[in-house]
Amino acid sequence: MGSGIAQVAARSGLMVALTDIKEEFVERGLSQVSSSLQRDVDKGRLTAEAKREILARIKPAASLDSLADVDFVVEAVTEDLKAKSDLLKAVARIVRPNTILASNTSSISITTLASATGRPDRFIGMHFMNPVPVMKLVEIIRGAATSDQTYETTRALAESFGKTAVEVNDAPGFVSNRVLMPMINEAIFAVYEGVASVKAIDEIMKLGMNHPMGPLQLADFIGLDVCLAIMNVLHDGFNDSKYRPCPLLKKYVSAGWLGRKTGKGFYEY
Ligand code: CAA
Repeated sequence: MGSGIAQVAARSGLMVALTDIKEEFVERGLSQVSSSLQRDVDKGRLTAEAKREILARIKPAASLDSLADVDFVVEAVTEDLKAKSDLLKAVARIVRPNTILASNTSSISITTLASATGRPDRFIGMHFMNPVPVMKLVEIIRGAATSDQTYETTRALAESFGKTAVEVNDAPGFVSNRVLMPMINEAIFAVYEGVASVKAIDEIMKLGMNHPMGPLQLADFIGLDVCLAIMNVLHDGFNDSKYRPCPLLKKYVSAGWLGRKTGKGFYEY
């Protein structure tokens, strides 16, 4: 997600600093940006020169300290409250007081994350969809203290990336994952209970509902660990058993079968 966000920002003309816990992850992100842009070059929608210029606008940042002068930060680390809070706290100490911090969290409370930063009025949710260069939506989530100015700046930024910004209030899973993830979880229950095969369930939803991917293929694409983390946020946040994660989802995550990224999930890759 981070490299996709860097790509759309750089393509809109902005200078981007890209950082990660290891330099090799930044390199991997840059090579993902390069191959994603190459699709457009191959299709004649981007010149090779423009591709080089976009890539040149993304500067690998060796440490958080090099973020001191940025105007806007989008955090896209693993879907874990502590990991996100610790990082955001550290970033808030480095960047200028007026810099807006945004989280690409899929489900974690924006109000809670904001409280780690000491600047809750300049904190917001900016939730991109995967694959970022393709998907039109950015869900923009206002925390309890997010200011109107922060919201307007973030909305304008998303639109300058060529995205459609849709505003929602802070609630577990926001809107996207409150609706999407129970569908995916229910599809996993259907596998668990032997209602139909993985292939049959996906075929029903693709052909019957015109979804581009079946729910199990989509779960593998998102990452089963991410799906489980989101279901846990919904379950804990609403205290409602209708959001309980399917035992089969938990089992796959325990086995390390996380979907596409590990080569195995509901399908083999
Ligand atoms: N970078 C750039 N372009 C890409 C790309 C990438 N990583 N992946 C696909 N594309 C482009 C292709 O170049 C192609 O472009 P054109 O049609 O303009 O030529 C287009 O996307 C379609 O790609 P393909 O023909 O290769 O494959 P496809 O038709 O099967 O589409 C897909 C692939 C766009 C991923 C499609 O299957 C899809 O929309 N899937 C559902 C994705 C989805 O639901 N995402 C949301 C997940 S939830 C989430 O992200 C939030 C969360 O919190 C969990």
